[in-house]
Amino acid sequence: MSVHSMPVLTEAEVAERVGALMADMTTAEKAGQLTQYFYFDLPPREEGAPEGPGAAFAGQGITVGEALGRGEVGSLLFVTDPAQINRLQRRAIEGNRHGLPVLFGFDVIHGLRTIFPVPIALAASWDPAGVERSQAVAAREARAVGIHWAFAPMVDIARDPRWGRIVEGAGEDPYLGAAVAAAQVRGFQGEGLGAPGRVIAGPKHFAGYGAALGGRDYDEVNLSDSELWNVYLPPFKAAVDAGAGNIMTAYMDLNGVPATGNHWLLAEVLRGTWGFDGFLVSDAQAVHNLRTHGFAADLTEAGARALMAGVDMEMAVGDPAYAHLPEAIKAGLADEEALDACVRRVLTAKIRLGLLDQPYVDEDEAIQVLSDPAHRAAAREAAQRSAVLLRNEGGLLPLASPRSIAVSSIAVVGPLADSRRDTLGPWVFDFDLDETVTVLDGIRDRAGPDVEVGYAPGIRPALRVFPSMFDMFAGNAPAEPEGFDDAAELARAVDLARASDVAVVVLGEWQNMIGEAASRSSLELPGRQLELLQAVAATGTPVVLLVMNGRPLDLRWAAANVPAILDIWYPGTQGGAAVADLLFGDVGPGGKLPFTWPRTVGQVPLVYGHTVSHEPANQGRRYWDEESTPLYPFGYGLSYSRFDYADLTLDRDRLRAGQALTVSVTVTNAGERAADEVAQLYIHQRHGTASRPVRELKGFQRVSLAPGESRTLEFRLGPDELRYWNAAVRDWVIDATTIDVFAGGDSTAELTASFTISR
Ligand code: NOJ
Repeated sequence: MSVHSMPVLTEAEVAERVGALMADMTTAEKAGQLTQYFYFDLPPREEGAPEGPGAAFAGQGITVGEALGRGEVGSLLFVTDPAQINRLQRRAIEGNRHGLPVLFGFDVIHGLRTIFPVPIALAASWDPAGVERSQAVAAREARAVGIHWAFAPMVDIARDPRWGRIVEGAGEDPYLGAAVAAAQVRGFQGEGLGAPGRVIAGPKHFAGYGAALGGRDYDEVNLSDSELWNVYLPPFKAAVDAGAGNIMTAYMDLNGVPATGNHWLLAEVLRGTWGFDGFLVSDAQAVHNLRTHGFAADLTEAGARALMAGVDMEMAVGDPAYAHLPEAIKAGLADEEALDACVRRVLTAKIRLGLLDQPYVDEDEAIQVLSDPAHRAAAREAAQRSAVLLRNEGGLLPLASPRSIAVSSIAVVGPLADSRRDTLGPWVFDFDLDETVTVLDGIRDRAGPDVEVGYAPGIRPALRVFPSMFDMFAGNAPAEPEGFDDAAELARAVDLARASDVAVVVLGEWQNMIGEAASRSSLELPGRQLELLQAVAATGTPVVLLVMNGRPLDLRWAAANVPAILDIWYPGTQGGAAVADLLFGDVGPGGKLPFTWPRTVGQVPLVYGHTVSHEPANQGRRYWDEESTPLYPFGYGLSYSRFDYADLTLDRDRLRAGQALTVSVTVTNAGERAADEVAQLYIHQRHGTASRPVRELKGFQRVSLAPGESRTLEFRLGPDELRYWNAAVRDWVIDATTIDVFAGGDSTAELTASFTISR
């Protein structure tokens, strides 16, 4: 028996165990079970040192140590070393009258040691089974070191790319978002709590966090009833239906009520309507923040309001509000039954995980699991499958193919081309830089001895105007490079490009420019990157632009002037190897954009699923100074082949509300290479009791087809796809109407058919 495989207990057995434990627990011990602390062993801040986010954690190790000694800690986060996890676990168990172990949680966002492409890239693969496999690897590594719970997936819809956390989600669309959310939950949890090598999934941030005003992280969110139900909630609902064991609340206030104290959202919708039976955790310090919001007068009231809204566990940076729960109960602000219900849910999770029987982790096994080569191979495949080919004029890619140019020398240009840390992307902490393959490494390796590969950064790395909190607490804030001669370096890059057959230019955002607390007021390429690209292109050497990003960037110049553009995102540990596989055509790109790519920041938010109103013919001309159409539409992405769509047929053209139909379409690989295509199905409701978007994604399938091969794909449109939340009646409705169906390779697909729905 593997150390993690536990006998499955019945519900009654679990309840009995929970009951026995709770029988003589004090209110303070119960509140302790509901408290999660960050654990950092940071030294106290030195006198006069700048106050950074790290300062908030200084001395935290001591505070937590004391709370562990009193048996008043339910969970810890941010520890990843198995030996330290075992040590802390021992202190927890020995400090606790009931011998209760703590849950270890961590942000396992796109891998632990083996880093996968960032989540927006995984979504761009439009391959839920692949996404599930990636997160299963992440779960296996996390569980091996003693982590029980991932604060992931982030299932927030993001429609404003200024918001840095767009990189952590699946983009703008509720249907794709729901499919990716469910896949990730399955990947993390497997068959459910206690499955060997898996962890609890914690979809976040409930709910609406991605709609921050102006894309400014943590800012208020005002969502209409229709947007909330039709766009922002579906990925959460899918994650709950997939069995997520945990949900994390959000920081901001939703329509004026803080999400973390929002009884309607947490108790009525999540638990009541959806039947969520896992446990809820607050975001870090979010219970505390109920005071900041002006939603509670003091910490006692803050704790009470969160508890009464149904937040089972407080994620605390220090000074937990839940430590005041005994007082709050005495004062009548919260009741003991609510406290007990939360404790019951937390203990149930611990028991179901098997934690009470096997609280420690096997440190030797952890080392083996973390170095499993199969994990690296999975990361390489995920990076291959997530790349999106945005442009390929004249078949420049793949290099060295019959249609491309002969390549005996390659200039690799741009500081991101050889930056290990940036190749990994944001939101990773336990990576191994030594084994990270940059684009330069990957190309050198793949090109072989007959091709000369030169490298020139060309420009210095761009810096944030305001430093990143993550760089500050990791203690590695980037600095200006010493002795960098700007003019000479640019000239060197240009000379190298001029002397080479092809220039591969890697541009984008540095990883600290995206993610949490990394919102931007612009979408331009930071620093002197555009200038570098223009200087290289001016040599006349064909340019392949690789974009390293987690949000759309202003690529107007490149889209008009650079023959090949491949979006490689932040591709992870094996990123450079995967990129080389793609550049040389060992595999082909088949990803598609999970968001609408705007031309310029002034257009955002820009989504494909908009409604129409006055003068729809001028929809693309709403600004007098720039098109209001996207640079690249949602769902867009090329391959090294071409695909034709034909024979869009419906198995019936009339149905009654509540019935389903099957749509089929034939996709043909009309080119000369084997390639992947993501066939997409959209609907549009012509009329009804509310305005509906011009297009709504309602199905997709990624297929691999040999040259000349055709496949007929089927999609089911049933009540779930045809209903929508109607704000006028505050309910789901299926209208009597005509529905247009569109099938094709992106959201502008033209092949169409229609059917009617009657009551
Ligand atoms: C704050 C972030 O909003 C959340 O996503 C994350 O899980 C916690 N910090 C813990 O790191």
